[in-house]
Amino acid sequence: MSINIRRVLGVALTVAASAAFAAGAQKATFGFGATPPETELARFFSPLPDGRGLPKGSGSVAQGKTVYEAQCVACHGENLQGGIGDRLIGGRGSLVNTDPKKAPVKTVESYWPYATTLFDYIKRSMPFTAPDSLTSDQVYAVTAYILAQAKIVPDDAVLGADNLAKVRMPNRDGFVPDRRPERFPAPANTPHQSLATAPAAK
Ligand code: HEC
Repeated sequence: MSINIRRVLGVALTVAASAAFAAGAQKATFGFGATPPETELARFFSPLPDGRGLPKGSGSVAQGKTVYEAQCVACHGENLQGGIGDRLIGGRGSLVNTDPKKAPVKTVESYWPYATTLFDYIKRSMPFTAPDSLTSDQVYAVTAYILAQAKIVPDDAVLGADNLAKVRMPNRDGFVPDRRPERFPAPANTPHQSLATAPAAK
């Protein structure tokens, strides 16, 4: 995603200015920048596994097929088998096996623990050559299409901000807490509590 420095600076200054105002100080003016409109602020989002922070919108598997065929198929293949881009589906159950000759096949289907991550990743970084060019509805739709091709959701699914977090990914329980001693401050003592303790999925 390309970052517009002026826009980021504008937001930062606006936040700083309103904080100063709220603290009772005289309203600061800097002679440049503009208050970002809601539509612009909506582009800053950070979804969590439980669905908080997902942008508004929704899309169906059928709509996602159209998006996929126009925007993704060239790199990820007609059957999502990969090519220039990664293979997206298959490999379920291949990550844990005792046969040293059988390589694990890591895909969205076999590896990713949360469907919200899939939305977030596509929205921020795909299509590879034009990241951030799809609307949220298009991204929900293509997310639904990939999950349907992986047989994780039915072919008539409509996924959006209200139900994406309810999708149960096959490898949801494949991640275990690292039992080695914690070298960082306990979560309660860090300013990044929300990152240190991911909430349980609904
Ligand atoms: C120009 C080629 C290209 C196009 C078009 C493209 N991708 Fe990708 N995609 C890639 C490449 C390359 C990667 C690997 C990027 C990396 O590892 O940093 C990738 C990675 C991904 C991944 C992560 C896979 C994983 O397991 O890590 C997803 C999901 C994905 N793409 C979805 C999409 C979707 C959905 C579209 C269409 C909206 C799309 N891509 C369009 C090239 C492309």
